[in-house]
Amino acid sequence: MPGRTTVLVTGGAGFIGSHTCVELLGHGHDVVVVDDYSNSSPGALERVAKIAGRPPAGVYEVSLHDRDGLSRVFEEHTVDAVVHFAAKKAVGESVELPVAYYDTNVGGTVALLRVMQEHGVGRLVFSSSCSIYGDAAKVPLTEADPADPTNPYATSKWLCEQVLADTCRYLPGLSVLSLRYFNPVGAHPSGLLGEVPRGTPGNVMPYLAQVAAGRLERLRVFGGDYPTADGTGVRDYVHVMDIAEGHRVALEHLDDEPGMRVFNLGTGSGTSVLELVAAFQRACGTPIPYEITGRRPGDVPALVADPGRVARAWGWSARRDLAAMCEDAWRFQELNPCGYPD
Ligand code: UD1
Repeated sequence: MPGRTTVLVTGGAGFIGSHTCVELLGHGHDVVVVDDYSNSSPGALERVAKIAGRPPAGVYEVSLHDRDGLSRVFEEHTVDAVVHFAAKKAVGESVELPVAYYDTNVGGTVALLRVMQEHGVGRLVFSSSCSIYGDAAKVPLTEADPADPTNPYATSKWLCEQVLADTCRYLPGLSVLSLRYFNPVGAHPSGLLGEVPRGTPGNVMPYLAQVAAGRLERLRVFGGDYPTADGTGVRDYVHVMDIAEGHRVALEHLDDEPGMRVFNLGTGSGTSVLELVAAFQRACGTPIPYEITGRRPGDVPALVADPGRVARAWGWSARRDLAAMCEDAWRFQELNPCGYPD
């Protein structure tokens, strides 16, 4: 996708979406954001404009289920490609509210596809997840490894991939890249943009940041008896800035081949929860109290990417290390103890 283009970013005020907006604006693209602010806030987009030096070309508070509202966005802008983040993403919540997850994630994706089709837009980068691989028999995981989702969140992402792949089979004008992220963490190095969870964080990195800040008493390490080197869960943490760059690079490669292609976005390195605690302590300079408790239902022992396919195809690989992920997450926490002003 050469030159300056207009990219519609759904969920552009969210954690990964906002960092991707900065990356796209910084590379000369125009950005149009659609977000219903159900798990994000307009304050993130003010920060995006501050960092990038210019605002998105359009910002719309609209749900993907609002067909007329979404159509208006496509009528008001000539959209060259869509990056689709808007979705629910809490694994635990998905077990409680499976229908809401299928409605928002699968229904939202189908609704978006329909409006894209009505407006002749056939280029899409889709936000997928390593959780599709489920309880992996071995790591690292390649894109050829079988899907085995273990919760409604993961199943919803897998269903979206199947809908997109099948639609590509029948609509030759459609090009889709599905990016399966491992565990995106960290924040923009400016400290202006980061992850703002609603309520008590469910994910380990924002939880650690709040323990370090004294807002939470101690980290509960979910499981010390996994078949891993130190018994705690192993994940492939990847800096959100690397993930954002991955989307920009993906847009540049959308036209390489027609149809749907799938890529892992991870570092290829596994980190245990205890190793992450140690790295975070080094970043924030204070000890982090923790206790090892029982396993969290639905968790798997280890998920690590084989990032070879994307490196071979586009030359993309994650550049930032675990220390940078922790330092940037901590800087954002320190500068924004209560998230964005709104
Ligand atoms: C999950 C999804 C992932 C999704 C992410 C975002 C799976 C397998 N992965 O990642 O696709 O992008 O959520 O919501 O479904 N941990 C603790 N204490 C805590 C929190 C977490 O010990 O308070 C541990 C977990 O047991 C795990 C690791 O930290 O071993 C990472 O957990 P978390 O940050 O919640 O992410 P995932 O569950 O891996």
